[in-house]
Amino acid sequence: MTNKLTVLSGIRPTGYLHLGNYFGAVRSFVKMQHDYNCFFFIADIHSLTTHPTPENLQAGVKQVLAEYLACGIDPEKATIFIQSDVPEVSELYAFLNMNAYLGELERTTSFKDKARQQPDNVNAGLLTYPVLMAADILIHKANFVPVGKDQEQNLEMARKFAQRFNYMYKTELFPLPKPYTFDGKDMIKVPGLDGSGKMGKSEGNAINLYEDPKDIRKKVMRAVTDSGPTEPNQPKSEPVENLFTLLKIVSTPDTVAHFDALYNNCEIRYGDLKKQLAEDIIAYTSPIRERIIENLKDEAYLGRVAKLGAEKARESAARTLQEVKEVIGFKRLF
Ligand code: ADP
Ligand code: TRP
Repeated sequence: MTNKLTVLSGIRPTGYLHLGNYFGAVRSFVKMQHDYNCFFFIADIHSLTTHPTPENLQAGVKQVLAEYLACGIDPEKATIFIQSDVPEVSELYAFLNMNAYLGELERTTSFKDKARQQPDNVNAGLLTYPVLMAADILIHKANFVPVGKDQEQNLEMARKFAQRFNYMYKTELFPLPKPYTFDGKDMIKVPGLDGSGKMGKSEGNAINLYEDPKDIRKKVMRAVTDSGPTEPNQPKSEPVENLFTLLKIVSTPDTVAHFDALYNNCEIRYGDLKKQLAEDIIAYTSPIRERIIENLKDEAYLGRVAKLGAEKARESAARTLQEVKEVIGFKRLF
């Protein structure tokens, strides 16, 4: 365990995990846990930027924990923990804030987006979001961070803060964290069902892992298409391409080839494609959904996992924090 490289990633508990989260992130977590020293956490402090009620916060944390486990993250192999259970992170966040500059924080794309989306709540936590994320990563000296493309800039900032700290204190305490894509491939971007863009929690175009099969069928049957090909081998429109992208993710290559051929011969009936797609999504999500339901009922189990994870994460975090404090000069001479 000790000489393995370290992997760390987190998801905010702001809603149900969807196919995008699964194929873009969590599926890689599950594969990585065998080869790396892994930390996967629930970023509940980060979610406070949008002011959830205490009930929503608690329910969101429980849901993601149940979903992480249902997807196959093994608490014996990886360290699964809740961010707020590790106070060392907040301490490092305070230190790192002293070397993070207003100008660079204001220029971050995610800050500018959020400030536009919630103009009445442009809080300091939003501004320093990348600093807290850097603290999450650096406190465990993570080498790799598996995240989707949308998190690239935040990760670059984490590298910058690490480098700045190392330079300022003439140390090599923090390794520079790199993005990680499983198999060296580009991270998948799972499209939504609304014809454009990516599947997202707040986009209203998502299929959740927890979703009832009935609702999956309804959502897929309602997905945007076009009026159908009129010439053989016609390029696909974006909404149709998106359906094929989803099919490639959840169906067999034979099924994809079958519908591709029908499309290219102008014989495709989108209704048939959608029916197949819905059934193949359900085949994928059903076992996960059943495990989520089981896990949600077993609060004692969730509690044990969170406690074990908090202990392991705190041990690792405390070690780094001690080194950081010594380097900074919080060492008593009297
Ligand atoms: P959302 O965008 O739905 O709010 P998060 O921002 O919480 O999801 O993302 C959690 C993880 O899932 C991140 O690593 C992110 O890159 C990944 N992810 C989210 N949506 C997609 C998608 N449509 N395709 C691929 N990866 C995604
Ligand atoms: N910012 C990430 C997101 O919105 C969540 C996150 C917080 C994270 N801290 C992290 C991801 C550290 C990776 C590493 O999805």
